[in-house]
Amino acid sequence: MKHLLKMLDLNKQEIISLLNLADQLKYEQKHGIKHHRLAGKTLGMIFQKSSTRTRVSFEVGMYQLGGTALFLSSKDLQIGRGEPVQDTARVLSRFLDGIMIRTFEQQEVEDLAKYGSIPIINGLTDFCHPCQILADLMTIREFKGSFEGLKMCYLGDGNNMANSLIVGGLKVGMNVSIACPKEYQPDKEVLTFAADFKDKFQMTENSIEAAKDADVVITDVWASMGQEEEKALREKVFAGRYQINDEVMAAAKPDAMVLHCLPAHREEEITEKVFEAHAEEIFEEAENRLHAQKAVLVRVMEK
Ligand code: CP
Ligand code: NVA
Repeated sequence: MKHLLKMLDLNKQEIISLLNLADQLKYEQKHGIKHHRLAGKTLGMIFQKSSTRTRVSFEVGMYQLGGTALFLSSKDLQIGRGEPVQDTARVLSRFLDGIMIRTFEQQEVEDLAKYGSIPIINGLTDFCHPCQILADLMTIREFKGSFEGLKMCYLGDGNNMANSLIVGGLKVGMNVSIACPKEYQPDKEVLTFAADFKDKFQMTENSIEAAKDADVVITDVWASMGQEEEKALREKVFAGRYQINDEVMAAAKPDAMVLHCLPAHREEEITEKVFEAHAEEIFEEAENRLHAQKAVLVRVMEK
C-alpha cells in the first residue's frame, strides 16, 4: 500500500490487515510497549479546513511512533497563494517522508500522489474520509466481535462520510442501508460500486426503514465544512426526517450501537439523549482515530 487516497482503492484484505495492525498498536500503547516504528521520519500535515481529531491523532500518533509531525496550515503555505500542487508535491517530497492532507477537492489529493514521490494520506476531502472509516470499522469490530451478518445504517447527508462508509462497510462484508434525501445522495461513483452488491445495499429516503434491525446506526452533520452558506436550506430538508432519535433506535436492534465521527450537532442529526446513551461507543470511536491513523502511518511510511 503506497498511499491512502480513498476506500475504493483498498481491497478487503488490506482493510482487515490495517484493522489488525490498529488493534495491535492500541494494545502496545495501552501496555506501555514501545513501538517506535517510524523513528526519524517526518510527516507533513496540510490543512485547508479545521480539525480537532485528525490533527491531534496524526500528530500524537507520529510522536508515539518515534517520528515528528509538522502542522502546515494552507493559510501559511504558498499553496494558499496559488503555488501549483505539482510543485508543492515535488518540493515537499524532498523534505518529508509522508504527507497527510485535508482539503476540498479529491483531485488535489490524487495530484499530490501523482506528482510527489512520498506516501499521501487523505485526511478528508469533500468526496471521502477514509481515515475516519477505518476507525469506525475498528470500533464496530471491537464492540461486535466481527462484521459477519451485521447491518450498518447511515442516515443523513450523502456526503464524504456516507461515501466512505458505503464502500468500507460493503468491502468488509456488512449489509449497508442508507437513508438520505433525494437531493443529497452519495456520489455516483460510490453508488455504481454499491450496485454490484445487490441485496447487501439498500438506499431509501426513509430513516426508520433504513434503521430496521440495524446493528450499527451512524449519522453526520447536515452541512459539512465548506457548506456553511447552505446551512439554512439544508435544515429545511433534513430537519425532522434525518435524525438519530428514540424512534429510529426503536427500529434498530435492541443492542444496536451508535457512531458519529464528530463534531456533533445535538438536536439536529442526533438527539442529546441518544448521543449520551451511546457516548461510550462514540468516544471510543474518537480514540480509535489515533490507533487507526498509526496503522496507516506504519503501513505507508515504514520501510
Ligand atoms: N472526525 C473528524 O475528522 O474530526 P475533525 O474534523 O476534528 O478532525
Ligand atoms: N462531513 C463532515 C465530516 C467532519 C469530520 C465535514 O466534511 O465537515
